[in-house]
Amino acid sequence: MNAIVINDVHKYYGKLHVLRGLTLTIPKGECVILLGANGCGKSTLMRCLNGLTPHNQGTIQLLGEPLPPLANTQLRRLRQKVGVVFQQFNLVQNVSVFQNVLYGALGQQRLGLLTTLSCFATNELRERAMMALDRVGLAHKAQDNCRDLSGGQQQRVAIARTLMQEAEIIIADEPIASLDPKAGRNIMDLLLEVVHERGLTVLCTLHQLELAQQYGDRIIGMKAGTIVLDTPRQQVSLVDMQQLYHGDTRVDQTQPPHMLNLTPANH
Ligand SMILES: Nc1ncnc2c1ncn2[C@@H]1O[C@H](COP(=O)(O)OP(=O)(O)OP(=O)(O)O)[C@@H](O)[C@H]1O
Ligand SMILES: [Mg+2]
Repeated sequence: MNAIVINDVHKYYGKLHVLRGLTLTIPKGECVILLGANGCGKSTLMRCLNGLTPHNQGTIQLLGEPLPPLANTQLRRLRQKVGVVFQQFNLVQNVSVFQNVLYGALGQQRLGLLTTLSCFATNELRERAMMALDRVGLAHKAQDNCRDLSGGQQQRVAIARTLMQEAEIIIADEPIASLDPKAGRNIMDLLLEVVHERGLTVLCTLHQLELAQQYGDRIIGMKAGTIVLDTPRQQVSLVDMQQLYHGDTRVDQTQPPHMLNLTPANH
């Protein structure tokens, strides 16, 4: 079964044509590293995939279901299956590590619930939250305030939250961009371990090519809103990857391909 099926997807921000006809299938259990220069559309793709912003044309299917589904309840259920890990950690800073992980079980419900959440959480939920924290090596930090954790630890909490959420797809947008090289590697190791254990599907952006050569099953490269590289990791060369950063890379400084083919009249 496929986890993610993207067919000829286009996305505009106003007049800016960001995603320019992306077609991509990711089987369940595959770990894909997404590369591309600043402004080529990687985060936009990820935002479309986790339902944060709608695409304008084409189709996206997650776990066999179209996105966006018609009803809000369906969308919420589908989003629950997509865990996100961002560069900025996206944790609630002024509550405990434990509460942040519990929040994973609530999916996308209102943050206001968080402060009272612990009172309502069943023993089963609490146990699961502790197990998730234990898996990422942070059980001893459960009661600490999130803002007192290092970046690497905060990213571990974010991973624990996706485990608690029982996400089937993890969208990780530059998960190690704010971390030092050692902490970054540790996070990538942990992420790959947990997705392997649970057979999760991952789409992860990175800017470090030497890491891209070491993690995941497949490398996808984007340039100016299109996919220009799609190769099993073992077969990708450094030169192939370096090409992604040369030439017209940004969507805001390039025309979509079909526009380039237009020859102005009388010239
Ligand atoms: N919410 C938004 N509204 C308008 N334009 C946006 C929005 N989000 C992104 N863009 C524009 O879309 C283009 C692609 O941005 P995107 O964040 O997807 O790139 P990226 O590949 O993730 O880059 P980076 O490597 O810097 O994170 C950029 O020109 C950006 O300014
Ligand atoms: Mg980005």
